Amino acid sequence: MQINIEPSVDNYCVMGNPVAHSKSPQIHAAFAEQTQQNIFYQAIQVDDGKFIAALKDFQAQGGKGLNVTVPFKGEAWETSENRSSRAERALAVNTISFDDAGNIIGDNTDGVGLIRDLTVNHDISIKDKDILVLGAGGAVRGILDPLFDEQPNKVIIANRTVSRAEKLADIFSDRGDISACGFDKLAGSSFDIIINGTSASLQGEVPPLPENLLNGNACCYDMMYSTSDTPFVSWAKAHSAAEVFDGLGMLVEQAAESFFIWRGVRPETGSVIDLLKLSR
Ligand code: ATR
Repeated sequence: MQINIEPSVDNYCVMGNPVAHSKSPQIHAAFAEQTQQNIFYQAIQVDDGKFIAALKDFQAQGGKGLNVTVPFKGEAWETSENRSSRAERALAVNTISFDDAGNIIGDNTDGVGLIRDLTVNHDISIKDKDILVLGAGGAVRGILDPLFDEQPNKVIIANRTVSRAEKLADIFSDRGDISACGFDKLAGSSFDIIINGTSASLQGEVPPLPENLLNGNACCYDMMYSTSDTPFVSWAKAHSAAEVFDGLGMLVEQAAESFFIWRGVRPETGSVIDLLKLSR
C-alpha cells in the first residue's frame, strides 16, 4: 500500500484489491477540472485484512474522503460510524467522508448511479415496469432500494442459488411487489427491463436464461462493463433487445454522486462518459 498525499489540495482516493484497473482517478480528475475543484484523487491498492488500517492512515494523513471497491465494501459498512439509509440497507459502503469530529460517514452511491444512468442518460422509465434482476449478491442488494424508489410494477430476482434471491426478496418485501426464483422458473415470463447484476461475465458466462424473456420494447442493462461487449450484452443483442447498455454510465454516475457528497457540486457526466468510451 502506498499513500501519496498531495500537499495544499484536498486528497481523495479509491481503495480496493485489485485497484490498478480502476477508472475512478480518471473520472474524478475530469470532474475536478470541469468544476474547478482543487483535488487530488489516487487509487490505493490495499491487501486483504488491511483495509481499516489503510483507511485510518489515509484519514490521519489528511485525506478528506474515499471510495471503496471490491472486496472492502462490507468492511467499510462495518467500520462506518454513521451510515446513510441507502448504505444501511445495502449493507455496503462505497463512499466515505469524515465529519468535523473525525467520525467515519458511510454512503452507497452504486444504486443511485444505476438508476440515474437508466432514467436520465438513457431515458428509460422504470415506473410501472416489470423488472427482472439477475443475481442476488452484494451488487444487487445495493440497487434494490433506489429501484423501488422509481415505483416499478414488480421486481423478480432470479439467481443460481435460489435461497439468496429469496432472502433478498424477503428483506425488501416492504418496498413493493418482489419475488424470487431460479433461472429455470423464468420460462413463460417476459419483462420490460432486465438488469444483470451477476458476476457471470467475469467467467465469460451468461446465466442460463429461457427464450422469449424480452417484451417487444425490452431494455437490457449489464451492471458490468468491458472494452468489448460483455457476454450479457451479446446475449441481449442476439435476442433483439430494443435497447442494450453496459455499466460504464453507472460507474460514472456513482462517481458523480460521491463527488457531490464530498464537494457539494454535481458534475456533468455526459462528457466524462464520452471520454471513457473513447479511451476503452
Ligand atoms: P457481487 O458483490 O459482485 O454481487 P457476489 O456477492 O459474489 O458478488 O455475487 C455474485 C452474483 O453473481 C451471485 O448472484 C452469483 O450467484 P450465486 O449466488 O448462485 O453464487 C452470481 N454468479 C456468479 N457467477 C455466476 C454464473 N456463472 N452464473 C450465474 N450466476 C453467477
